[in-house]
Amino acid sequence: MLHGKRILLIVAGGIAAFKSLELIRRLRERGAAVRCVVTEAGAKFVTPLSLQALSEDRVYTDMFSLTDENEMGHIQLSRDADLLVVAPATANILARMAGGMADDLAATVLLATDKPVLAAPAMNVRMWTHAATVANVETLKKRGVTFIGPNDGAMACNEHGPGRMSEPAEIVAAIESMLAVGLASARPLLEQPLAGKRALVTSGPTREAIDPVRYISNHSSGKQGHAIAAALARLGAEVTLVSGPVTVADPTGVRTVHVDSADEMLAACLAAGAIDVAVCAAAVADWKVAKPSKAKIKKKPGAQPPALDLAPNPDILATLSKPGTGRATLIVGFAAETENLVANAIDKRQRKGCDWIVANDVSPATGTFGGERNTVHLISATGVEDWPTLAKDEVAGRLAARIALHLARPRSAEAAE
Ligand code: CTP
Repeated sequence: MLHGKRILLIVAGGIAAFKSLELIRRLRERGAAVRCVVTEAGAKFVTPLSLQALSEDRVYTDMFSLTDENEMGHIQLSRDADLLVVAPATANILARMAGGMADDLAATVLLATDKPVLAAPAMNVRMWTHAATVANVETLKKRGVTFIGPNDGAMACNEHGPGRMSEPAEIVAAIESMLAVGLASARPLLEQPLAGKRALVTSGPTREAIDPVRYISNHSSGKQGHAIAAALARLGAEVTLVSGPVTVADPTGVRTVHVDSADEMLAACLAAGAIDVAVCAAAVADWKVAKPSKAKIKKKPGAQPPALDLAPNPDILATLSKPGTGRATLIVGFAAETENLVANAIDKRQRKGCDWIVANDVSPATGTFGGERNTVHLISATGVEDWPTLAKDEVAGRLAARIALHLARPRSAEAAE
């Protein structure tokens, strides 16, 4: 999608600079040419040599280097680009941009440019929420700079909150929409791309009662589903999260409905009303006890253990996916498999009638259930995309960005997808 596009990537000095390497790799994979300018502080976090190796181009660092200015003046660096991306955008570079400083090559290029600028902030939560940074960001937005992120989450400084740089995949999706639909229409789309959209997410296990004290359930932690609900809300969606019993906290900015059984989960999903997108990440128990005992089942001396008579549970994903006027535009299921992952997931997508399936290997050796990371494949009608192993909130961010892009597309593009 980025074939022939030229990105000037400005790497400022923050711990998130290591993600810029991944960003370059992904941009190049998609056909873009990437040229890097790195600040003095940025070069303390990633070496110009790494940036050069990945971009396969010279890396520019110094405004006062005769070679730099001879071979490529700062004005030319901007002229040659379709888009300038500042990632990570630290509090310092945002302040220098807002103040119109030209005290190094990066700031000078940003002051001299008439090209669109995308900034991906990354800093400590207190720096991000400081009145000075808030004012600088406002100023820059008014001047036309587009922002992506920052995301909420754990930070290198052992704090939690907004300040984490957006994932490279999210930044790539933002760049694609900026270059595909034009800046004016991309900006609102990037900042709150899911504003006005309603999303439904199921998460966690379900619990099927055997009697008032015993139940059938599974190991699902709800981490992935909850992270998806949070990521969709961050992009502006109005999110209803229907969660089975989990220990993870309700995400902020999300309406969470707590349920136990699959029947209750289905009822809560149907009660959520009209939705644009549904993501069924819950590990719904396939069977329930046909007639749970009203009283605790007692052991009778010498008697055989009781037989559990099971009945099938409703399939929530398949129910939501049924064609009809009220069907969401996009329905995403998960396929938890322990063998023949992709083949089973492709089959599951068709059987359940959903649009996309996120397939993940849940064999015990992968540590997916209850763990922090997930290796998934995104399966749509047109193919299979293999994603690298990512933290669950990174999978969530990437999926939310993909959903936003999909919902923003005109119908004709959807049909061609
Ligand atoms: N799902 C659902 N309701 C069910 C069972 C599954 O909504 N009763 C959804 C899950 O949330 C997930 C998808 O269907 O999005 C696939 O779940 P999975 O457990 O992988 O598949 P199953 O339908 O249980 O199929 P199988 O056990 O044969 O793998």
